[in-house]
Amino acid sequence: MTHPTVSHIRIDQDRLWSSLQDLGELGAYDDGETGLRGVRRLALTDEDIQGRQLVLGWMENAGLTIRIDQMGNIYARRAGGSDSLPPVMMGSHIDSVGTAGKFDGCLGVLGGLEVIRTLNENDVVTLRPLELAIFTEEEGVRFGTDMLGSAVAAGRLLLEQALEIQDRDGTSVRTELERHGLIGDVQVPITPPYAYLECHIEQGPILAAATRQIGVVQGIQAITWKELHITGRAAHAGATPQTLRRNAGLAAAMITVQLNEMVESGRYGQMLATVGRHDSYPNLINIVPAKVLMTVDMRNPDGDSMRLMESHLDRYLAEVERATGVSIASRTTAKTPPVAFPIRMRELVAKTATNLGFSYMEITSGAGHDAGEIASISPAGMVFIPGLYDGISHNPREYSTPEACADGINVLLQAVVELANHPAVSLEAHTSGSALVL
Ligand code: GLV
Ligand code: MN
Ligand code: MN
Repeated sequence: MTHPTVSHIRIDQDRLWSSLQDLGELGAYDDGETGLRGVRRLALTDEDIQGRQLVLGWMENAGLTIRIDQMGNIYARRAGGSDSLPPVMMGSHIDSVGTAGKFDGCLGVLGGLEVIRTLNENDVVTLRPLELAIFTEEEGVRFGTDMLGSAVAAGRLLLEQALEIQDRDGTSVRTELERHGLIGDVQVPITPPYAYLECHIEQGPILAAATRQIGVVQGIQAITWKELHITGRAAHAGATPQTLRRNAGLAAAMITVQLNEMVESGRYGQMLATVGRHDSYPNLINIVPAKVLMTVDMRNPDGDSMRLMESHLDRYLAEVERATGVSIASRTTAKTPPVAFPIRMRELVAKTATNLGFSYMEITSGAGHDAGEIASISPAGMVFIPGLYDGISHNPREYSTPEACADGINVLLQAVVELANHPAVSLEAHTSGSALVL
């Protein structure tokens, strides 16, 4: 069987851009810090469901068959010429952080949709089916664990555990999935796709600074998230002598400074650490803080350095307890190892970028992605495009141009079609069906 050449086909930049703008209206809010319109579409909130409904409608109009798994992950399928072959999957997420722009995750989903719309209007049938995934709670800001949906889809996290996770108000993932009718019949872990490819805005300054159009993502750095519950004792700010204080606020400040010193020491490689949340109780001017809940986000491209960081942080927490008299309960809420994408997937993205005349460079992702989870069951890869304004992201100022978005999705289109036209025999005969030989 021969397959139509698609090398001359390009996606519709305006259609992609207007889809991004339309989805960005759902959950839009006025951001006080930037004065811009931002996006707040936390996972499984009503705004997220509105976003899903909009995209589901577009998927149905594109002729796709929709299935949903037990974690509410959506898979929209376009039939292949040999439809029983494992599909090539594209995907990402449309949930957002509380102060987002319009690109993070949405580009991967709407770009995948644009690939399918383009193939439809050019009457291209690929050998293998295509699937477009929307994963549940990639951001992790509502339920506290990032890449939650794709981690369950890939079998790294257990469904039953994921369903019981609660948000700050005590509402569980299960409750929200049930409320929205999102517990589907596709079993998790899912059957591995033949390959997985995701396009994403870089969310950092590297590609723009190097004036490259495409990032060939070589891997994703390790992520560890911790929640620290610090318990001291409330006391009068004026009448309590220093020796009688057990100041949870002081302990939190010591930990924050220590993390920064660990980063600056250089001892842990390219470590980054962020205390993004700090809730203090009773949070009043003249009372020594009794309790602090703080989060720690640690990143490191090197797994050994990450382990060292974690053990040194634990040791420091014990020192803080001794020095301040507080007690600290530490809970790990998310933990992913560094991921290296297969060389062949990287070569495919690089070759495709070159064929399209784009400059590219290899890059390690600072952010976590669903591709990192799917990489444990299928050959996975990622295409990055540059963002403006130092690549700022998780912020309404996040921005990439219509042209840059189209560049990334044209790479996605060509690379996905190449994968989807890989013949069946000889490759899978020797494998369980998920190995890829390019
Ligand atoms: C996900 O967006 C992350 O925090 O890296
Ligand atoms: Mn993302
Ligand atoms: Mn994000």
